[in-house]
Amino acid sequence: MTTTLTVNGTSATVDLPEDTPLLWVLRDGLSLTGTKYGCGVAACGACTVMVDGVAVRSCQTALGDVAGASVITIEGLGTPAALHAVQAAWIDHQVAQCGYCQSGQIMQAASLLAENPSPTSQDIDDAMDGNLCRCGTYPRIRAAVMDAATRLREV
Ligand code: FES
Ligand code: FES
Repeated sequence: MTTTLTVNGTSATVDLPEDTPLLWVLRDGLSLTGTKYGCGVAACGACTVMVDGVAVRSCQTALGDVAGASVITIEGLGTPAALHAVQAAWIDHQVAQCGYCQSGQIMQAASLLAENPSPTSQDIDDAMDGNLCRCGTYPRIRAAVMDAATRLREV
């Protein structure tokens, strides 16, 4: 059965079972491999993307539930020439270590700032709580999110 959704601003029609996790639709169906598989059970955040502006765990989101929705992945958040403020802050704060969790972290942070332009440190910790980083980049994540919030307010 075919399902049509919008991915990074472009309409995409995929012929996969409706219960296929969005993560595999993106990675295997659409070759968007920036979104990572970590746990598969919504416990790590590595697979985070935005659906209609809200961060979701794509490993536990069925294709059938995003029919007609707008999905943004790390590939569509910004461009090399026009980075999203979160991406720019991430680079300036040199957040990434191994990098595996980072696309999920960035998508979660971007979703937070879309909803809350002036987060406190506690707000950031609460929003990022489900995104695990085995390299322990949490202090840099917190600083970069705070910096990105400032940048977005100044736009
Ligand atoms: S792979 Fe989806 S939350 Fe871990
Ligand atoms: S940067 Fe390595 S797991 Fe987060």
